[in-house]
Amino acid sequence: MARSDVDVKKLLAQMTLEEKVGQLVQLNAMFLGESSAEITGPLEKLGIPQSYMSKLGSTLNFHGAQEMMDIQRKHLEEDRNHIPLMFMMDVIHGFRTIFPIPLGLGASFDPETVKECSRMAAREASAGGVQVTFTPMVDYVRDARWGRVMESCGEDPYLNSVMGAAQVEAFQGDDLADHDNIAACVKHFAAYGGAEAGRDYNTVEISERLLREYYLPAYKACIDAGVKMLMPSFNSLNGVPSIANKWLMNKVLKDEWGFDGVIISDYNAIGELKKHGITDDMRLGAKMAFDCGCDIEMMSSSYYKHLADLVNDGEISEQKLDEAVLRVLELKKELGLFEDPYHGASPEKENSVCLTPEHRDIARRAAEASAVLLKNDGILPLSEDIKRIALVGPFAATNEIKGSWSCNGENEDCVSVYEGIRSLLPNAEIIVAEGCSAKYDELSEEGIDAAVAAAKGADAVVLCLGEPQKYSGEGNSRADIGLPGIQMQLARKVIAANPNAVALTFSGRPLVLTELDKLVPAILHMWFPGTEGGSAAADLLFGRANPSGKVPMSFPKAVGQCPIYYNHPSTGRPKSKPDEIHQPYSSNYIGCGNLPLYPFGHGLSYSSFVYESLELDTDTMTKDSEITVSITVLNDSDRAGKEVVQLYMHDIWASAVRPIQSLIAFEKTELGAHERKTITFKVREPMLRFYDLDCNHISEPGEFTLSTGCADHLVLTKSFTLK
Ligand code: NOJ
Repeated sequence: MARSDVDVKKLLAQMTLEEKVGQLVQLNAMFLGESSAEITGPLEKLGIPQSYMSKLGSTLNFHGAQEMMDIQRKHLEEDRNHIPLMFMMDVIHGFRTIFPIPLGLGASFDPETVKECSRMAAREASAGGVQVTFTPMVDYVRDARWGRVMESCGEDPYLNSVMGAAQVEAFQGDDLADHDNIAACVKHFAAYGGAEAGRDYNTVEISERLLREYYLPAYKACIDAGVKMLMPSFNSLNGVPSIANKWLMNKVLKDEWGFDGVIISDYNAIGELKKHGITDDMRLGAKMAFDCGCDIEMMSSSYYKHLADLVNDGEISEQKLDEAVLRVLELKKELGLFEDPYHGASPEKENSVCLTPEHRDIARRAAEASAVLLKNDGILPLSEDIKRIALVGPFAATNEIKGSWSCNGENEDCVSVYEGIRSLLPNAEIIVAEGCSAKYDELSEEGIDAAVAAAKGADAVVLCLGEPQKYSGEGNSRADIGLPGIQMQLARKVIAANPNAVALTFSGRPLVLTELDKLVPAILHMWFPGTEGGSAAADLLFGRANPSGKVPMSFPKAVGQCPIYYNHPSTGRPKSKPDEIHQPYSSNYIGCGNLPLYPFGHGLSYSSFVYESLELDTDTMTKDSEITVSITVLNDSDRAGKEVVQLYMHDIWASAVRPIQSLIAFEKTELGAHERKTITFKVREPMLRFYDLDCNHISEPGEFTLSTGCADHLVLTKSFTLK
C-alpha cells in the first residue's frame, strides 16, 4: 500500500483497546527476535508475557539491519493489523562511523560540521535499520563532574540551541520517508544537566527564572526546528520527576510551546516513580505519566498493565488514548513504514553505506574542527622533518577513543594516535611507551622508566593523556576531574627528561589540567574524537590541519570551582583585584582564583588573529529597529586558519540581576594568510530579553554593551542604548 493511501484514523478504528495500548509500549529488541524465548527472565520481571510481543508498537536496542528485518518480518506476520514496528536507537555521535562526542562538536562552533555529521549518521543508521534516534541531547550543563556533559554542547544556551536545531534539521531532512533521513527525539526534558553536585540522576532544584533563561531554550529551539519526538528526563525537577511534572509537561511544553509530537518516557522512568517515592501504585504512575502527555512508555510495564483499565474505568478518556496512538501511527506513516516497513534498510546497504572512505573523511574533518588548542608557547605545530618521536602515555596507541554512546562503532575501526602519525610520517622513528594506565585504580609505576627512556632520546615527545572513555556518559560522574591514576607522575618525569613535550588530551568532559598547563608548552585537547581521531591528531600536531575549536564548557582550575560557567550573574561583591590574589569580603576563593583555567570561547590557532575593530552603525535601538555590528579581524600570519568570531552582550541595568555577559551570536570564518575580514551581526530587541521576577520575557530600556573576544577575555567593547 502506498503510504499516502494509509488512513491511520481508519486503522485506529479497527483496533481493539489492547492493540491501541500496545502501540504505546516500547520494549528492548532482545525480547522480540528469534532467540527471544530464552529471554524469559527479564520479561517475567516486567510482568509481561512473551505472547504480548506481537502487540508492541516500537522497540529499541537492536543490532543492525538483519536483526531489524527479522524482527519486523515476524511482527508483521503476527500482528493482525499489519502495523509495522518502529525501531529506535541512541545514535548520538555516529552509527558505525563515529565522529566526536557532542561536547566536541560544540567546540567546533560550526553548525555546518554538525549537520554534515548528523546527515552521515542518519544515512548509516537508516541503512542499519534505525528509524528514530534519541538525539539531540541538549541538556544545558555547568558541572563537569556530571558524566553526561559529553552528550551536550556545553554551558551556553544559545550555542546549545543552534547545535540542537542543526541536528534536528539534518537528521530529519525535508521528508522522513526519504531513506537517508530518520526522526529525531530531543531530550532530556528538562534540566537533567542540573543534577546536584554533578551526580547522575540526582535531584534538580532550579528557580523558574533560571530554568527558562538557561535550561529551556535549547529544547524549544529543537521543537521550533520540527523535532518529531521528545523524551522527559529521569530527574525530579523542583520536587516532581519530569515524567509526572504537570507544570513542565502540560503548562510549558504543551500549552505554551504547543508541542504536538510524540513523547516517550526515558528507560523505566515511569517505573522509577516508585523509587522516587511518588507512588507505589503503578496504575497511578501510568495515569500520572499519561496525563503529562507521555505517549510511549519505554521499558516499564505500567501502560501494559493499567492503561486499558484506566480507560475502561473512565479515568483516562478513550479520545485521549486515541490521540496518543494517532501520534504514533502518524509518525510511522511519515516515515513511510506502511509502504516500506524496513525504511530502505538491508544488510547489503548497511555494509555499503557504513564506514566508507567518504564517511571516514567527514569524521576526520569533524575531529579536526572540534579539537581545541588550549595552550601553545610556539612549539606546535611540530616539524614533519622530526626523525625520532616518543609517543608516551595511555592514549599513545590505544584505539579506545570513540567515547561513550558510540552505537555500532567498534574500537577496532578507530585510528589510534600512533597509527595516525605512522601514516603521516612513514619514515620517522616512533617509539611508543604507554608508561601507565589512565584508570584511577591502576597505579603500577612499572612502565614509567621505559617512558622516560623513550622521551630522553626523542626529538619531540607527545604525551597522550586523558580519562578512559568509560569515565563519562550515563551513570559515570566523577568527584575528581583531574587526569586519573598516576598520569601526572608520568608527565612530571617525562618532562624532566625531555622538556620538548606537548600534551594531547582525551576526555568526555572538561578536566582540571592546572598542573599540566604549568608543565608543558602546549596542550591540544581532542575530547573523544571518534573513528578518525588518530588521523586528526596527527594532522593537527604536524600542521596539516590548523586547530579552530573553542572551549564550549569552562575548564576549571580546581574541581571545587564547579559548577563554573562564564555567563554567571553579577554579584554585589565582585572581585576587583587580579584573579590570583585573594580579596577578603568579596566573592572569591582562598588559594584559587575565580576564573577557570580555560574559559568558554577560548581556543588558539596556528594563525594569529587580531581583532582590529568593533563598530555599531548606531548607538540607539528601539523595539522595532536593529543594530548592525561589524567586527574586523585580521589574520596576521602566513597560515590560513579559521576563527570563531563571538558576540557577547551585557545588560548593564535591569530589574533582575543579569549575567556578566551572554553569547548572542557567533560565526566561524576562514581567513587566508594576512587576510582581513569584517563579520557583521544584526542585534535586535528580542536578543536583549530576559525573564523578570514574574517570569515575563521582556527587555528593559537602558544601556547595554556588545563585546567580542572570548569569555573572560573580551578584547573590544561598545555600548548602546535601548529606548
Ligand atoms: C537512558 C538514557 O537516559 C537516554 O538518554 C537514552 O535515550 C535511553 N536510555 C535509551 O537508551
